[in-house]
Amino acid sequence: MPVKYLGSKRRLVPTLNEVARLVHADSAIDLFTGSTRVATAWRANGLAVTAVDRLRFVHTAARTYVTTPLTTRRRHVLVAAIDDLNRLDGVDGYITETFCRQARFFTPENGARADAIRAAIADRHHGTWREPILITALLEAADRVDSTTGLQMAYLKQWARRAATRLTLRVPEIPDGPVGRAVLGDATKVARRLAPATLAYLDPPYNQHRYETNYHVWETICRGDAPEAYGVARKRVALRDDPTSRSVFNDRRALPGALRACIEQVPASIVVVSCSNEGWLGVDEVAGLCEARGRPLVVAFDSARYVGARIGIHNPNGAKVGSISHVRNTEYLVIAGDLSRSQRRDLATLASPPVACA
Ligand SMILES: C[S@@+](CC[C@H](N)C(=O)[O-])C[C@H]1O[C@@H](n2cnc3c(N)ncnc32)[C@H](O)[C@@H]1O
Repeated sequence: MPVKYLGSKRRLVPTLNEVARLVHADSAIDLFTGSTRVATAWRANGLAVTAVDRLRFVHTAARTYVTTPLTTRRRHVLVAAIDDLNRLDGVDGYITETFCRQARFFTPENGARADAIRAAIADRHHGTWREPILITALLEAADRVDSTTGLQMAYLKQWARRAATRLTLRVPEIPDGPVGRAVLGDATKVARRLAPATLAYLDPPYNQHRYETNYHVWETICRGDAPEAYGVARKRVALRDDPTSRSVFNDRRALPGALRACIEQVPASIVVVSCSNEGWLGVDEVAGLCEARGRPLVVAFDSARYVGARIGIHNPNGAKVGSISHVRNTEYLVIAGDLSRSQRRDLATLASPPVACA
């Protein structure tokens, strides 16, 4: 799903494609699928992918990009449905009131368009193969006209220039490729029950920042409900009050055990775990957890940091009040499992810039 997503591995996709090729993968599990970009790319490259996440809007995107067979006839039907939705007049509703008046994530005009389109999807497409695709198309359209830096804990003091553009749906670019599976659930609970695959990719959160709150607007639009909201960002009250809304991967003490369980239980011959030099677990600790799968290989990548880090530190009036420590970080892939000597050698060459790896 081409939206702004913290921790998206968009730039690692070519490398992850190469990993899949080098290990001759025909199937893969993306256990923390997030933006679904990795899962989508693997599907496009012919892998049967199972995409897992605990967020409903991510699951909806995974149903779109990983599980939908898009025949020519279906494409025509989708184009017509999207034309129809794009022609609707705006209607004031929960999105307009909560996210555009009480907060300023979108202009009220675009909020009203989103309200009208979400209601029409529920009325005309509920329960059909089109529903997840149209919801995904709505989220992607809203992302193109939002007024944030990419997180929904806050919105910009001045409207982003893109916010003035009319919210307009496009047909999602669903790849050809094997029809995979989308699983909504907690990775620590579902990992062991998944169908076996050649490759599993694990890219969990490694700090306190919760995806549930960072992307609460997408979750609410996807659900189409009207929850009581709190705070400046008008988040769902359940995110504050319901302990089950918290991921174990945002809990520093529980994280190592949870990741270990996923690494050990996920039914794949090769496990690839992402981490960086900025999370609670260092690459050595992640490599240690992977040892249950055999001697791990560590591949390092120099990488530009999240855009918010590059913009700098601002006070509530929007004035720049601090500088940031660094704009680059190191991303790692820790790879373990049934690897031949030549595969290990070839995988080690993927490092960027090329470095000697363990
Ligand atoms: C770093 S992001 C993954 C980014 C993804 N690889 C991409 O390229 O966009 C981590 C993801 O893990 C999900 N997540 C967090 N805790 C989880 C859990 N216990 N089970 C399943 N998914 C979880 C979050 O919702 C988030 O989408």
